[in-house]
Amino acid sequence: MRILAIETSCDETAIAIVETEGELPSITLRVLADNTLSQIDIHKEYGGVFPMIAKREHARALVPLLIKTLDDAGLKRETSRHVIESPLRAEFQEILEKEPELFTQFVTKIPDITPPEIDMIAVTRGPGLEPALWVGINFAKALAHLWNLPLVPVNHMEGHLLAPLLKRKEDGTTHLAHDTFPAVGLLVSGGHTELVPMEGWGKYRVIGTTRDDAVGEAFDKVARMLGLPYPGGPEIARLAQNGTPGVYPLPRPMLHSGNYDFSFAGIKTAVLYTVQKIDTPSETQKADIAREFEDACVDVLTAKTLRAVEEFGARSVIVGGGVSANASLRARMAHDLGARFPDVSLEIPKPGLSTDNALMIAIAACFNTPDPKARTMRAKGNWKISETVTD
Ligand code: KG4
Ligand code: ZN
Repeated sequence: MRILAIETSCDETAIAIVETEGELPSITLRVLADNTLSQIDIHKEYGGVFPMIAKREHARALVPLLIKTLDDAGLKRETSRHVIESPLRAEFQEILEKEPELFTQFVTKIPDITPPEIDMIAVTRGPGLEPALWVGINFAKALAHLWNLPLVPVNHMEGHLLAPLLKRKEDGTTHLAHDTFPAVGLLVSGGHTELVPMEGWGKYRVIGTTRDDAVGEAFDKVARMLGLPYPGGPEIARLAQNGTPGVYPLPRPMLHSGNYDFSFAGIKTAVLYTVQKIDTPSETQKADIAREFEDACVDVLTAKTLRAVEEFGARSVIVGGGVSANASLRARMAHDLGARFPDVSLEIPKPGLSTDNALMIAIAACFNTPDPKARTMRAKGNWKISETVTD
């Protein structure tokens, strides 16, 4: 089965096409194309992501990105030019009512392509920035209508959780690791910090979340305090490499709270006080602060994950989301897990699959059946991973 997946929940416009073979649990997956277009350079100027700018950029990028992705996948066939005429044109105008620029590109460029050999369209329904999500959803609805294809709403966080399970075999094909359950999932991104015991595909429960900032958000805010550009995670990580731990001690909130919740606002505020006291920190001081901040986050994330491994008798730990790109988190998780639970495997995304992408949406789509109601789906900015597709 060929799946075309679309992701526009935040500041990356992404489209991927995969071909799956076999049934659960042993699915083989061929990545035919996987493209991500980052808006980071635009948002950098503002120090963060502005939903309406993200929406505008997605609307501009989607049609050219789709054409490129079909081309990469070898599925783009030009057809003799035909025009979408009324009343069909009016239907697309209605679907893309809120995105006039996308509508114009859609009706002028897409009809030049022969309907590709695709079996299903998957799109991120949430969580994320609603104006941004809507662009991808409306585009997916329009394509599904034009090509008469089933539509699958995908939870972005399920994508982050399943991306680490993509494994490449020696012959270059990829498959999904299926001997990983029960697992403990740790979701760490710009909007989420969650501990998610996973009994199997689609069986997720959230046992802990952050009470304030998400860990990625804290990285971004601390970076701003240190005068570093958005997104702050990679910048802090780079600085921290040269920092000395413990020079500016920071708290480890909720480390011994006895539950699985997190809190990162306290660490962030402690950094603010530290920076204010120093006035204008030198590069060395910045590196020491970055190091201590990263250590504080990693300490809490690792300790709570390991406690969950013990309680749930997990066979694996799956770390997903943008912050899973953090080398220090990866190293500590591997070290501590190896020391305490040597039989438990650690599943972490391949480079490029940590931060937002559409391949993870295609992967998650394998475990969600097309929903007949999807043609009328609405974006859901706070969609919980433990809710079902139709919630
Ligand atoms: O998953 P993602 O791409 O988007 C959301 O769904 O939020 O995550 C983005 C977050 C940002 O906060 C970014 O600063 C953080 O992931 N991030 C990192 C690293 N790379 C990205 N945080 C720490 N270390 C990194 N290397
Ligand atoms: Zn994400």
